[in-house]
Amino acid sequence: MMRVMKFAMGLGVAALLSMVAAQAQGPATLTIHADQPLHKVSPTLYGLMTEEINYSYDGGLYAEMVQDRTFLSARSDTENWIPVAMGNARGSVARDASTGPSAALPASMKITVEQADKANAFGLRNGGWWGVLVKPETTYTGSVWAKADKEGAGAVVKVSLVANDTGKVLASATLPALTGDWKQYSFTMKTGASGAASSANQILLTVDHPGNVWLQLLSVFPPTYKNRANGNRIDLMEKLAAMHPAFLRFPGGNYLEGNTIPDRFDWKRTIGPLVDRPGHASPWRYHSSDGMGLLEFLEWCEDLKMQPVLAVYAGYSLQQQFVKPGPDLVPYVQDALDEIEYVTGDASTKWGAERAKDGHPAPFALTYVEIGNEDFADGSGSYNGRYAQLYDAIKAKYPALQLIATTPVKGHAMDVLDDHYYKRAEQFFGDTHHYDNADRNGPKIFVGEWATREGTPTPNMGAALGDAAWMTGMERNSDLIVLASYAPLFVNVNPGGMQWQSNLIGYNAASSYGSPSYYAQVLFAGHVGTEVVASELKDAGDRLFYSVTRDPAKGIVTLKLVNASSAAQELRISVDGTKSVGASAKLVQLSAGSTAATNSIFDPTRVMPVESTVKGVGKEFTRTLPGYSIEVLEIAAQ
Ligand code: AHR
Repeated sequence: MMRVMKFAMGLGVAALLSMVAAQAQGPATLTIHADQPLHKVSPTLYGLMTEEINYSYDGGLYAEMVQDRTFLSARSDTENWIPVAMGNARGSVARDASTGPSAALPASMKITVEQADKANAFGLRNGGWWGVLVKPETTYTGSVWAKADKEGAGAVVKVSLVANDTGKVLASATLPALTGDWKQYSFTMKTGASGAASSANQILLTVDHPGNVWLQLLSVFPPTYKNRANGNRIDLMEKLAAMHPAFLRFPGGNYLEGNTIPDRFDWKRTIGPLVDRPGHASPWRYHSSDGMGLLEFLEWCEDLKMQPVLAVYAGYSLQQQFVKPGPDLVPYVQDALDEIEYVTGDASTKWGAERAKDGHPAPFALTYVEIGNEDFADGSGSYNGRYAQLYDAIKAKYPALQLIATTPVKGHAMDVLDDHYYKRAEQFFGDTHHYDNADRNGPKIFVGEWATREGTPTPNMGAALGDAAWMTGMERNSDLIVLASYAPLFVNVNPGGMQWQSNLIGYNAASSYGSPSYYAQVLFAGHVGTEVVASELKDAGDRLFYSVTRDPAKGIVTLKLVNASSAAQELRISVDGTKSVGASAKLVQLSAGSTAATNSIFDPTRVMPVESTVKGVGKEFTRTLPGYSIEVLEIAAQ
């Protein structure tokens, strides 16, 4: 202290106090009883929760490059589709409610070309989702529905990717001449070898002679993850894969419920060819294309080897609309049963056959079905009845399914209960023992939505510390907590893209980044044993959190340490109940000098995990944890 005092002469009191705070804290001791397993870690503990929020799918994971491809989501005809007249071409555009290619899409965009020729074409441009990412030597796949009137018949439509600043055509496709009937035209466009990747581009569609032309569903896709048609962005899927998720909870969230009953996630309107999907209004204030439909969710699961946790609509929508249990609910119960059959039935079943027709003959494995979302918000108190009716009908047909209630129900079995927590870091620090003494004879727990809400659009290091502290508690209680998922997962960081602050992964059209909270998830889910072992921590302050698991088959004890204090923490660790302990251990560390430290679209790697090897490990060793740090130590213990 003397030394600190001398050095501090002339400094302000605040500076002095913060220096004192940053001194290492007195040693704490942690004893790990590696031979005393307490219980198994749920193999499905870490998963993903997702819904259409913050442009998560449209303008996010779903790789479609055209915004408002069905001309449904704008307030004006030309908000997303700007008329373009080249040279002395002339014309106008307007949405036309009288003709479209299908019952689901009965309207279209009409282009009236008064004057145009090959060199002076008329058409529309689309700016994509805050930009159109074009890369060199890349093939883009697209299609459009179109028809022409008598005068316009024979018109040639050209689709191009064009640089905003120079007008240079980077790739293009010329379609066969149009006819008087609605027809889908498919095309590919390939960019050349020169030029750098950029999102400062637009998609241009032009017509080369006078007449009327109608368009619907212009779609352009870049290469997708695992080359799926109608698939997902590669960078975002790779980020999710790094989280080692065991499950995907979908389709919500509030997105399942919709603001009103007609706006619910009506799964039957999200399957089959895109032209048969009308899309719908999302509760997060924009139109959903439903390009990410039920089958796409399931294929997303397949691609990342996750199990689906399917939430079925349970008769409650956000504006306090509910369906009375009893006969009124019967059609919704049937919809849920049909949905489960679409997921799990073989091709001999009605809905299994429909899935096969949609391109996926093999059924998907399903263990968990959630009945609704956050039904505590239903002021009518109808959930007890709605839940019981759905539960009984689903169990009668699918007895092996585990059914999840979204709020406690009285007088009826609950297999699993979904708890949600959105908190500040401080609150999570004080609540890490939440489940330690919870009833083990009641339902299992799904922590279906949780997050430390600090930092926007994505959480900062302080939030990551809150998250990590909370996860130590979930791991310790993973006999009870069978599933857990952070929410929300995604945010498009462009102005207007975000409806909910603090989201795990941010992106724009060109790139994406993980928040410190994302890396905390990567660390925790990527390093977890199969059993929780007994341990004791002594003399630690109230900012040190930990979890110990082991994997006997691999001979590894995994120790997670969270020091949420600004001060370093010395920790004396002893590992007993094992013949030998390796002399070195793998360390993965996430730390920052400040809780405000964060990543962003402009600075995506400021806070990143660092991997190293720690020497001097043994049955007894000391580790000094830096202030504001999250660590995983993999210790060889045989
Ligand atoms: O994650 C954002 C929202 O929070 C979810 O849609 C809803 O379930 C919860 O209230």
